[in-house]
Amino acid sequence: MDFKQRLGEYQQLINDELTKYLRHDDCYERRWNDAMEYSLMAGGKRLRPILVVATYRLFRQDIARCLPFAVAIEMVHNFSLIHDDLPGIDNDDFRHGKPTNHRQFDEATAILAGDGLLNGAYMVISNDLLHSDVADLPVKLRVFGEFACAIDRMAAGEYVDTIDEGKQIDAAELEYIHQNKTGALLKLCVRMGAILAGADEDNLAKLTTYADKIGLAFQIKDDILSEEGDEKVLGKPVGNDREMGKCTYVSQYGLDKSKEMLHDLVAEAKARLVDFGDQADFLTGLADYIENRNK
Ligand code: IPE
Ligand code: IPE
Ligand code: MG
Ligand code: MG
Repeated sequence: MDFKQRLGEYQQLINDELTKYLRHDDCYERRWNDAMEYSLMAGGKRLRPILVVATYRLFRQDIARCLPFAVAIEMVHNFSLIHDDLPGIDNDDFRHGKPTNHRQFDEATAILAGDGLLNGAYMVISNDLLHSDVADLPVKLRVFGEFACAIDRMAAGEYVDTIDEGKQIDAAELEYIHQNKTGALLKLCVRMGAILAGADEDNLAKLTTYADKIGLAFQIKDDILSEEGDEKVLGKPVGNDREMGKCTYVSQYGLDKSKEMLHDLVAEAKARLVDFGDQADFLTGLADYIENRNK
């Protein structure tokens, strides 16, 4: 099966799974539930949950076991997007080709929809833990700990990104922002898949390096798309990083050098997968996809 087809299948799997967690009950907070659904089902690429499942499948095929963690990370990701778009952070009006959450609803609803998705993720995991075999708990608790720490890093990265607007920062600080605001969740996904599937420490280390590289690569590509992407395809504003005085790889190194760095990172990421043979074809394809995507 070719990469695109498999990606589509994985996206369908994740969308079907997420649908199970939507709330449609008639209640006073109905609009809050609608706001969460609006962002969660807006048409994201689902790369994070797909990374969980695809990494898990390197070692085990019973993917139902990792799905709650895949769902949870997509909820967290959408929380991070809603808050990232808020007037106090990036002040963006469009995402996924639609008004951002606070534009479609209002700021209070968007803030609380973010809170709801973040906590929703913890509810999904805690429910899974509650119904797990005791023998399975040590592994799942390890994953749970990493999950919480990665979200802490994402928020830290978002914070530094925000306070650095309009400043000249050095290369180390820029990499710190990217590795935290974006890399931390992507790394978490790969590690969750591997740990849940019982990967040994040697394989976990290789996959972690792969994840580190694609995590940084992903945000460099996001910076490039913010400079020269097609707004219609991207579904979010182009030129906004520049307008806000954001510290990006493009502002630091220029477009050509950023593309070169992106390409090198993707090559380094793929090199960490060679020991897994054909089994890792999809993860290799994902690294290429991160470099070549236009949305
Ligand atoms: C966008 O992530 C935010 C960043 C971390 C750069 P994605 O491009 O993965 O978002 P969606 O969910 O696919 O829209
Ligand atoms: C997004 O960073 C990172 C998180 C949401 C945690 P950006 O602000 O660069 O991403 P986009 O371009 O708005 O998706
Ligand atoms: Mg931002
Ligand atoms: Mg943003």
